[in-house]
Amino acid sequence: MEVIEILRNVSKMIYENVKDLAGTDNAAGDFGIGAGGDISRNIDIIAEKTVLDYLKEIKFDCIVLGEECGRVELSDNPKGFIIMDAIDGSANAVRGVPFFCSSLAFATEDRLSSITDGVITNLSNGDMYWASKDKGAFMNGLKIKVHDKDPIYKIIGINTSGASSDLMEQLQPIFEKHNHIRHFGANALEMAFFARGLMDVFIDLRNKIRIQDIAAGYIIIKEAGGLLLDANLNPLDADLSYKTRISFIAAANQKIIDDVILQIKK
Ligand code: IPD
Ligand code: CA
Repeated sequence: MEVIEILRNVSKMIYENVKDLAGTDNAAGDFGIGAGGDISRNIDIIAEKTVLDYLKEIKFDCIVLGEECGRVELSDNPKGFIIMDAIDGSANAVRGVPFFCSSLAFATEDRLSSITDGVITNLSNGDMYWASKDKGAFMNGLKIKVHDKDPIYKIIGINTSGASSDLMEQLQPIFEKHNHIRHFGANALEMAFFARGLMDVFIDLRNKIRIQDIAAGYIIIKEAGGLLLDANLNPLDADLSYKTRISFIAAANQKIIDDVILQIKK
């Protein structure tokens, strides 16, 4: 089975297993601090178990890097890494806000730039986004691409959750100049929305986001034709360590960067 098939199969299983759980008391159960540093909720544990059980069942030779379970070596002879945020947007999922997803990616080496496949499933409605290197990006089987034209409304996604006052000050010109700023609370799904052309730019400069939250979005955005840059406007890359925290900007093209990003105060 192709890697993308494995990721798509198990992403659908997560959807089936958690779709009726969001917003219920059963979603919230506290399982202590996970490998990513946040409290693992019951819904996170159920979703991760779905993936681990399936990968074991099909005997996929890999190392899993899960946001809750940490590094799990499923083989002595791994083909690569499954980077798993089984529930991205856990706070939304637990509260019942219908904006949360699963994010699964496969990397051949210990680098973001070695990611070959990624799948993000919107767990509130089952929409599935996926991409494989050099094969394009898709949503529910239809090709997607970033929004590359002058939009009727320019929509700018900015993650401001827990942002420092210094960062808010740097971003202030963007808030002042642009009327349609959005922040939904699940980075991976916001990256999928960007890749699909629903936003013109997505910015997360908090230096807080983990590899697990962006791995699938990374390949989906690239395959949808988007630019992914670090805070210095260089191509985004990083290792897959649990300590790594990232800032990034996703933009449809250079014109958007010139128009929006260069307004960020130094
Ligand atoms: C969180 C979401 C959220 C972002 C946080 C992440 P989680 O992921 O992506 O949008 O602001 O930094 O931790 O914890 O729900 O998997
Ligand atoms: Ca998570």
